[in-house]
Amino acid sequence: MSAHIMVFDSGIGGTTVLEQIQQLIPEATYSYFMDNALLPYGAQPPQKIIQRLLALIHFIESSALQVDILVIACNTASTSALNIIRRHTHIEIVGVVPAIKPACLISKTKHIGLIATPATVNSHYTKALIKEHGKNTKVSLYASTKLVELAETLFHTHSLSNYEFNEEIAALNIAGDIDVLVLGCTHFPLLANTLAMCFEKPVKLIDSGKAIANRVSSLLMKHQLALSIDTKKPLRYYATAPIDASQLSIELIELTDQTPDESD
Ligand code: DGL
Repeated sequence: MSAHIMVFDSGIGGTTVLEQIQQLIPEATYSYFMDNALLPYGAQPPQKIIQRLLALIHFIESSALQVDILVIACNTASTSALNIIRRHTHIEIVGVVPAIKPACLISKTKHIGLIATPATVNSHYTKALIKEHGKNTKVSLYASTKLVELAETLFHTHSLSNYEFNEEIAALNIAGDIDVLVLGCTHFPLLANTLAMCFEKPVKLIDSGKAIANRVSSLLMKHQLALSIDTKKPLRYYATAPIDASQLSIELIELTDQTPDESD
């Protein structure tokens, strides 16, 4: 039996991370879980996100899915809940957080942007990342839930409303002198090609996908988890709400919110 890697997001954004991991480690067994009943996470308070992630852990552990590595492929969930959920399970958890450090290192103008959900932009975790790595770099913050919605529609219907996209980008008013833009939401790489065309000067768009794939790979080695040669294993999808236009074959799951311990 090959190592089981479950990738989680509020919606389909985490598939951008899943793709990177699959490319690096095609032999693992994968499942993809989306908590789309609560989409967008970016508009939820941290307490709610914590309850949902604890519910996810409860689901995995009570259904004997034997997940070896759980990738929280959602910046919003990771920046809100990572520390707490790690205390509630023995499952190895990999979080996805905004790539502020590499962005600050490669910026020549010493002005970068972070585009993410409102919850990620406002989280203590993100503020701490900026404080730690952005000492010599100005970091401008841009919050959007609209882009999450547009990325969902694009994924499921293959169409993007240019009007709505351009209207949102205009409203964000991204500074003209940034040379790196961190895609701090796993949905946004789906919009990267369109986003790249919005700037007059070249802007490098970076996300955490490759770094996460490397981290998963090193954990597989550390725990000596098995990988089988057969790369044609079916990918199982789980969701918490039906999706109208989806071509995916999805198993519907009901999550029951779990409240963290008093000590948390
Ligand atoms: N994909 C998630 C992230 O990386 C957020 C999308 C949402 O707001 O639900 O932040």
